[in-house]
Amino acid sequence: MANYGHFDDSNREYVITRPDTPLPWLNYFGQDEFFGMATQTAGGYTFWKDAKLRRLTRYRYNNNPMDNDGRFLYVKQGKSVWNPGWKPTRTKLDAFECRHGLGYSRITGKKDGIEVEQLMFIPPGENLEVWKISVRNKTKKPQKLSLFSYVEFCFFEALNDMTNYQRTYSIGEVEIEGSAIYHKTEYRERRNHYTLFGCTRKIDGYDTSRDAFVGVHHGLHDPKAVMAGKCTNSRAFGWNPVGAQQINLSLKPGQEETFAIILAYVDQGDLPKFDSPMVMNKTKGREILARYSDMKVVDAAFNAVKERWESLLSIYQAPKVPNVHLQRMVNTWNQAQCMATFNLSRSASGYETGIGRGMGYRDSNQDILGFVHLLPARARQRILDIASTQLADGTCFHQYQPLTKKGNADIGGGFNDDPLWLILSTCAYIRETGDLTILNEPCGYADKPGSKDPLLHHIETSIQYTLNNRGPHALPLIGHADWNDCLNLNCHSKEPNESFQTAGDIAGSKAESVMIAGLFLYATRDLVKLYHFMGQTQDASRIQGHYDDMLKTVEEQAWDGAWYTRAFDAESKPIGSKVCKEGKIYIESQAWCVLGGAGQNNGRAKKALQAVDKYLYTPEHGCALQYPPYSTYHSELGEVSSYPPGYKENAGVFSHNNTWIHIGWTMFGEGEKALEYYLSICPSAKKDHDVYRSEPYVYAQMTASQFSPTPGEGKNSWLTGTGAWSFVVASQSILGVQPDYTGLRIDPCIPKKWKGFSVSRKFRGVTYSIEVTNPKSKSKGVKSLKIDGQKIAGNVIPLPTDGRTAVKVEVTLGA
Ligand code: GLC
Ligand code: GLC
Repeated sequence: MANYGHFDDSNREYVITRPDTPLPWLNYFGQDEFFGMATQTAGGYTFWKDAKLRRLTRYRYNNNPMDNDGRFLYVKQGKSVWNPGWKPTRTKLDAFECRHGLGYSRITGKKDGIEVEQLMFIPPGENLEVWKISVRNKTKKPQKLSLFSYVEFCFFEALNDMTNYQRTYSIGEVEIEGSAIYHKTEYRERRNHYTLFGCTRKIDGYDTSRDAFVGVHHGLHDPKAVMAGKCTNSRAFGWNPVGAQQINLSLKPGQEETFAIILAYVDQGDLPKFDSPMVMNKTKGREILARYSDMKVVDAAFNAVKERWESLLSIYQAPKVPNVHLQRMVNTWNQAQCMATFNLSRSASGYETGIGRGMGYRDSNQDILGFVHLLPARARQRILDIASTQLADGTCFHQYQPLTKKGNADIGGGFNDDPLWLILSTCAYIRETGDLTILNEPCGYADKPGSKDPLLHHIETSIQYTLNNRGPHALPLIGHADWNDCLNLNCHSKEPNESFQTAGDIAGSKAESVMIAGLFLYATRDLVKLYHFMGQTQDASRIQGHYDDMLKTVEEQAWDGAWYTRAFDAESKPIGSKVCKEGKIYIESQAWCVLGGAGQNNGRAKKALQAVDKYLYTPEHGCALQYPPYSTYHSELGEVSSYPPGYKENAGVFSHNNTWIHIGWTMFGEGEKALEYYLSICPSAKKDHDVYRSEPYVYAQMTASQFSPTPGEGKNSWLTGTGAWSFVVASQSILGVQPDYTGLRIDPCIPKKWKGFSVSRKFRGVTYSIEVTNPKSKSKGVKSLKIDGQKIAGNVIPLPTDGRTAVKVEVTLGA
């Protein structure tokens, strides 16, 4: 079992100690409008707002070797050529370390007594990436070497950049001024932005033509200029512009040289575009480079990244959790993942190319559940943006582009779970903040230009949409799909060139989803509570009526004997039922019926969870999505049956839906089960990294299940709804600190042997220091709650009315 690294919890870092990890292990920089992704070998790229429309540097996905483009430094010393991050040359290093931290990565490589450190980050609020570079002579002799920097510029629009060579080979343009390279392709026409790639130190040469620096018949592992030890000062006219700088260093024994390289997206704003014909106005670029030429400014910018994260994380910290995996995930990495999923939805990662999907309607609503405590104001705006992509009849654009905030017409709508998720995100926002004004914010409908209908209107429209679109069993119609994008009951596709997601006519179809019914229960129950909080009791009882009706329908139509049926297909045949040959039991309907409150009084909920335990769960990998996997393609089921058994939606372990089952166990006070299940998908708890392969610090979307030939193999890390939901599981369901309309509700569900734990939670301007003790070895039930020494009834901490900003809470379990 190879060891690739370890957690450094006190620094909130994951330390990678060998570069050849089983897959590239990625990290993100930036949390405002500018983002970078970097692997442990410095692979990755950088973009402003939108990885499709404003990409600064090139990245070729699915390359071999994998992860082959990035922000590289080459060292040439005598005959030897190496990279501190090992790639692309893969020259053997004497030492290697990559510390992935929150919003930064620090790669350090050492060879022949020379140590090069590359610290990469994006300062808060800025549209630029900084690489702080330190070169150290660790020997007792003077050393001479040349350092080369390298990025390849992308012509901003990533798809065109990679496909339209008859044009792109002729449009590339750069300017060079001192130590700065300006990439300005398409600037003369409609762009008002450019890329700056500048070095804060005097350089000894540069290249901007890839053919000159790398060579047409060479590769990044042996770039011509580096091999020759000399840049050619090339200027790119068309073809492929790059940024490469040469820095010659003579270092005394023990000497260190430090400087920075800045990669910036510069918008000209109102400045004149040109100084003279063909000569770009570079005022802003010069200003940026001058500012960062002071290393104190670089260091202050890095500290700002760290301080910002510490301040965000101080909102929720659980320092004394008896389980190390849960502790580090909930305190650090899970929150980092929530930041990434909030910002990027499913757009840009090591597996999402930044070109295909933008922001997902259901995805982004769920991402808010794990993010809203960090920056509620941003969650607020996101909710309104999402709502604006809904149509007046309640349908939603399934995805939208972050730059334009407009729905993607290619995929369209008709995913019938989409509208309901808006209710979950809105309620989560109001529970966190108490801010009801969001409900009156005008957001309008995408197909009603100029409309100003408020958010609450959208919420009612969403409820109405589900009610109006029901099938023969009075269950909600599924449309193209529900949460399970691959359960395409209306697509009937026999044509390999069409998309399962959009094929098929959903008009007039009868296919129904029990998962949506469960989600409807959950959403309406949330809304009933919200209306009560608003004092609108009539609306509350109106919605309660819908809840009761749907609950009755679910219990009458969807109980299969030992679990909840998953759906009914276009011919009204059950799916996820004992009568099926394959796909007898699905996870989503168990999860959502239980979460929505079905099966509470008749024992079905518990039975449904037990069925999950029996047929879907393994402690090593978690729960498979369904059982048994489909061994053949079924056109009446769609994409779910297209995957080989044990992968993705065809009975892979889809981490996202596992989290709902975790919540289910906590509803029944099953603290042992909840933690055991939590750990079964927890990346930090994965033992054999050669099997799991994905990053140990963030969740992957999918793990190959017990039904696959490669069980335990993680895939598609970072951008998954598992991020948000796992944080909800750990912070709210297990540790039990739940934001509620009138205050924090305390309702932990823990293993009996836990003696206690503590949580520090900032909530509506007050810091709560919560100590939970468990003297009677119970899993659930608050026996007593003391607020600043005063015992109170119930388990909701009332908001202080006397201006106190720090409150001490003592919780004793054991009711
Ligand atoms: C992907 C999609 C998500 C969907 C899930 C299950 O993760 O982003 O929207 O719910 O797959 O199909
Ligand atoms: C595929 C994937 C699913 C994803 C969808 C996005 O169907 O299996 O996970 O949500 O593509 O369009």
